[in-house]
Amino acid sequence: MSPTLVIRAERPEDAPVIAELVSRAYGAVPYSDHREHLMVARLRESSAFVPELSLLAEAEGAALGHIMLTRATIGCGQSATITLALAPLSVVPEAQGKGLGKRLVAAAHRRATDLGFESIVLVGLPDYYPQFGYERLSAYPITLPFHAPEANCMILPLTPNALDGVTGQVKYAEAWLDH
Ligand SMILES: CC(C)(COP(=O)(O)OP(=O)(O)OC[C@H]1O[C@@H](n2cnc3c(N)ncnc32)[C@H](O)[C@@H]1OP(=O)(O)O)[C@@H](O)C(=O)NCCC(=O)NCCS
Repeated sequence: MSPTLVIRAERPEDAPVIAELVSRAYGAVPYSDHREHLMVARLRESSAFVPELSLLAEAEGAALGHIMLTRATIGCGQSATITLALAPLSVVPEAQGKGLGKRLVAAAHRRATDLGFESIVLVGLPDYYPQFGYERLSAYPITLPFHAPEANCMILPLTPNALDGVTGQVKYAEAWLDH
């Protein structure tokens, strides 16, 4: 990967560039509904948005990758626990397979930890995320509010005991839903 690569929080003026790069990243992905860029736009306008955790990777002015972590909760009522939802993760086709996805995930984890978040949930590629420490959600008493194959549903405790006693259903922001 280029030594000039910069990973930084998105700025308001980056929105169109991010929409295009997300569309391109998922353009040839067979399981994609090709609406991930719309999800990014909705989440950005929602209360789940954490500006420091929508990261853009660029090299020499070219936008190459993006990752978004947004607020969610596990459980309900007074025992609800704050978590983050990772989606989407996007690397443009010409930059794939060069370690950029890995760097974006690592950068997002560092920043999320620095901000005091304790865990991240995702529904994603079952062979990709375990390298970062993600475990199957089914190993925990935590469920999703929709059906997804077990192998795709994962969670990462960002600190050693972050998930002790955490139980219940993940509640996503309304912006997750594609109306
Ligand atoms: C999936 C994606 C984010 C990976 O990013 P990337 O920059 O191409 O991947 P990296 O180069 O960082 O890969 C890091 C490691 O994961 C492996 N890997 C890459 N893509 C993988 C995949 N789809 N499944 C399993 N492992 C994968 C690589 O071989 C590499 O292993 P190594 O460190 O042993 O060499 C990127 O290919 C992409 O944007 N794809 C289209 C959109 C998508 O599917 N997003 C994820 C949805 S959950």
